[in-house]
Amino acid sequence: MNYFTVQLPLLFFHLCCVFKSNCKISLNLRSFIMFNGNSLKVAVRVRPFNQREKAMRSKCIISMAGNNCTILDPKDLQNKRTFTFDYCYWSTDEYIENDQGVFLPNGPHSRYISQEHVFNELGRAVLENAWNGYNATIFSYGQTGSGKSYLMTGYGGNKGLVPMICEALFQEIKQRQSKDGQFYVYFSMFEIYNEQVQDLLSKVRKPNGLRVREGRHGFYVECLKSVPCSNFKQLEALLDQGIRNRSVATTNWNTTSSRSHMVINIHFQQVFANQFMTKHSEINLVDLAGSERQRSAGAAPDRFNEARAINLSLTTLGNVISSLSDKAVGKRVQYIPYRNSILTRLLSTALGGNSKTIMVTMISPADIYYDETMSTLRFAERAKNIQNRAVINESLTEQLLMDLKEDNTGLRARIADLEKAGDVHIDEQEVLKKLIVDNERQLKDMQKSWQQKLEEARREWEQQYSCILKEEQMMAELPYFLNVNEDPQLSGAVKHFIHHGITTIGRTAGLQQDIVLKGLGILDQHAVLTSHDHKVVLEPINKARILINGVPVLTKHQLQHLDRVIIGSCSFYLYVGFPHERNDRDKIHKYNYEFFASELASIEGFGKVNVGMGEELKENLDPDLARIFHDFIAIMPMVAQANQISEELNKGVIFEPEVKNLTSTDAKGEGLEKEIIVKVINKVTKQVEIWPLDKFTDRKLLIEGIYQHFLENGTIPNMVEQDPFWDSVEILHLGSAHVWLETLAYCIAYEDQVEAINYRGKEEAIIQIRLLPCSPSGNPLREESVIVDPDDLLGKRMDFQMQITLCLGVKWIQGNSSRGVQIGFMMYGLPAMFYAPAVWNNANFEMDYTMCFMIQHVTADFLSYLKTHAVVLELWGLQEGCQEMETEFAHVALAGNGSVLLDLCYKNQWTSVPQDSEKCRSKLSEQLKMLEEEIENLKDANRSLKSENIKMQRELERLRNLPSSPGLVTNGGPMKSANDRSNQKSPFLSWDAEFAKALKTFYFSMIGVRARLIHLKEVRPLDEGRILCLRYFANERNQLIEELGEELESCVGKLKNDIAKIIKRKKELQIDAVSPP
Ligand SMILES: Nc1ncnc2c1ncn2[C@@H]1O[C@H](COP(=O)(O)OP(=O)(O)O)[C@@H](O)[C@H]1O
Ligand SMILES: [Mg+2]
Repeated sequence: MNYFTVQLPLLFFHLCCVFKSNCKISLNLRSFIMFNGNSLKVAVRVRPFNQREKAMRSKCIISMAGNNCTILDPKDLQNKRTFTFDYCYWSTDEYIENDQGVFLPNGPHSRYISQEHVFNELGRAVLENAWNGYNATIFSYGQTGSGKSYLMTGYGGNKGLVPMICEALFQEIKQRQSKDGQFYVYFSMFEIYNEQVQDLLSKVRKPNGLRVREGRHGFYVECLKSVPCSNFKQLEALLDQGIRNRSVATTNWNTTSSRSHMVINIHFQQVFANQFMTKHSEINLVDLAGSERQRSAGAAPDRFNEARAINLSLTTLGNVISSLSDKAVGKRVQYIPYRNSILTRLLSTALGGNSKTIMVTMISPADIYYDETMSTLRFAERAKNIQNRAVINESLTEQLLMDLKEDNTGLRARIADLEKAGDVHIDEQEVLKKLIVDNERQLKDMQKSWQQKLEEARREWEQQYSCILKEEQMMAELPYFLNVNEDPQLSGAVKHFIHHGITTIGRTAGLQQDIVLKGLGILDQHAVLTSHDHKVVLEPINKARILINGVPVLTKHQLQHLDRVIIGSCSFYLYVGFPHERNDRDKIHKYNYEFFASELASIEGFGKVNVGMGEELKENLDPDLARIFHDFIAIMPMVAQANQISEELNKGVIFEPEVKNLTSTDAKGEGLEKEIIVKVINKVTKQVEIWPLDKFTDRKLLIEGIYQHFLENGTIPNMVEQDPFWDSVEILHLGSAHVWLETLAYCIAYEDQVEAINYRGKEEAIIQIRLLPCSPSGNPLREESVIVDPDDLLGKRMDFQMQITLCLGVKWIQGNSSRGVQIGFMMYGLPAMFYAPAVWNNANFEMDYTMCFMIQHVTADFLSYLKTHAVVLELWGLQEGCQEMETEFAHVALAGNGSVLLDLCYKNQWTSVPQDSEKCRSKLSEQLKMLEEEIENLKDANRSLKSENIKMQRELERLRNLPSSPGLVTNGGPMKSANDRSNQKSPFLSWDAEFAKALKTFYFSMIGVRARLIHLKEVRPLDEGRILCLRYFANERNQLIEELGEELESCVGKLKNDIAKIIKRKKELQIDAVSPP
């Protein structure tokens, strides 16, 4: 027997079964209000670690015991918080994957909660409620990637709640069916994106979405398809179709599924003919948008800050839950803001209304998401207070018809009254007329014979079923493209088959295409596929953008099974070859979105920094690099989309992702924290901006909004002020160069040409600098002043100059001669950045910049600074409209000769400019006190030095008066009398100078060795998975090591030689000195 039923519009069901407590119930419905166990049930489920978390070696901060879920603060392990929920599901570990890919507990004592377990607890409760005539709702809430879709629809063998509930429903229908009882199931599926509703069962996307109307008994979606189903297979096909439509829409319309809410509605009706009784239940299964973008705390300020609250529906859901929770605990709540968003309007019954509702919050176990997880758990905690009022929806079938007729008569009379009274309430009349039309349609529907409707639905199903069969057959015979989406739920939903002969790809406009794609960057005629002799050749038309395995193709290219094909900028496909090329061991799921994106990133963005591919990221990868790589591959496709939109809207803006500090180091040579940034380049003015990742993702949402508006209305909203593509220009960090200070510790002058390196490790310019130790009067010290032991400088005064003399090959100015550059640097933690004067329009220029520094008493700390630090020369790019930078001398102390004083203990004190004057004053007085103390200490030191000096002078006097003694040797050299010294150059002094000279030569030669060593450490093989690459790499490395060894040998040899010569000469002199004349 068939169980098809009438395809009634959704309004009818709202009419019958969805009413809020404050609605006037005009129909003769018998309702049993059940208050027992009506509070909203809350479950929490923690998923396994994902690739990003594993690569970052995240720790687990979640533990579960019974109904308690405890979260640890990773920054303070003493700080833990325990939440109690109705159900706590541990799905993080202790599981195995069986042959069908189903995750199951790995033993009798495993804590792992499988999909089936969740269904047995939550899904069966929903079914029981549905059979009893209650409405039931399940929400899945959590950040993107937390497992919402895994719970709701599931993946592969790990079926989710929707298919399991529906399958069990049809099984039970089969058992219960009888002459008396007939059961009808209707399925509808829609998505809410940007406050617009789209029917997922319809291939046609409605511009600006379907209308949400308010009927007398609640809100409903106008013209939403509600398809009758008689068996599970049929319903499963509808679910697949819905997901396919959603997938096509995300690619064609450049939307992001993580920002949309998917609602599946199953209307279940039971008709008991001999009792003239009907029971209804609305089952809503809601896969909510990712919750992560709702928090704005910590985000950088932007003139488009409101864009952060972009998901109005999700924000309103939070507000509704808060208000209901407050109400439940007895706080005064004026109203519940259901009406503020589409989602809360449509699901108002599920929250505090006529529904048995369960909320499942999905969380990650990883420490890196502590804040996000904590806010999710708090959200769940609030939700559990909510009290619903579920009622059994029962009605008398015959009575319904009579009520509808009566209703229409009443409505007509009301319109007639309004017209007679000349009342001007046009709106009200319109509403009443609309209600009459709806009622009449329902009457007509109800009066149609059951048989007739069954027949209609059967025909529709047969058509669809034959399509499914045809697709299965084509999959078995033909090669095809399989879509890959950022959202794993939508991957593999769309297939484009490649028939024998020619297959064309493009947007339909004008010419008919075999494969019609509407995604960003797809041209009217984009490419041609030729299938011949079991080979498929792809050829782009007119340089249309196609990438195969991450590499752009310009001419004919023969496809290989499992090639990754990117068409336009964001249509990702996996090529599945002819059946004979396929293999049971093909890991199709391996080629997910991450794989595509990492392939792109490896080729386009990460350059020589090799991190691996897709799931096979290198195991021992630095966690920081792993994090940045994952973020980078996530942003790459977004940037490609933004570029395409910019091009289509003629905005003249190019976006380029970059990793800030990918190869840069700080003043100690240690890696700086890496961060993703996006360069925004104006193609016309060549002006450049740098946006942090957050700013880019927010702006991207606004850009998408404008693009959608453009697609739907053909215009761009008028926006000069509101242009999200652009901001005011700023100065840019181009690169930095390191000048190591160690030579100063030996009083050796240093001159070099250093490379300013950008974030990617590429040269931006060459800067010639000098570091000159000098006398107090500012004259450079001669070689004689070189010292062997830097500790000799302790307590002494030291003066030195930093000079910048030349800057060559500035790429920034080579790119556009209207630009300028400025060089800045910091010294010994001084509170100010020193800037050389700006230079414009010249890519190669001389410079005459000198900054003098002085330290009155060299401290151990200063010496260690010199030995371990570099001055980092920052190269800043200037462009028209931005201000040059100036040194803030107000923040540093100057000595009488104009040198900058280094030894007042400013170190680390002036790191930020004080905010308010009160704070500022107290800080200043504190500093004053410290300076006073310092002066006292210095005075003490001075006194003791003076007395020491007097003592030493006396000792010297005494020694002078002694007859000269050849045995007196200090510092390895004989002491000469003052008279001797005045007559001839002291050999002691000249030996030191010679030692220093030898050391200096050695030091300079070691700079090259050090650079080679660093290079050797950093270089990685291009592809560690390939033996050939590894072999080549090993050869190259061996050669480098050999060269390095030779260089090292020669440096050390030279030093040995030099020292041997000095010692030899010294010995000769000693002999001369002791031998009689
Ligand atoms: N309980 C779980 N067990 C195993 N894998 C899971 C589980 N929950 C989520 N995943 C995996 O995590 C990934 C993201 O899950 P998904 O449901 O798509 O997230 P969301 O819908 O919240 O964005 C998927 O690859 C999915 O297979
Ligand atoms: Mg999802």
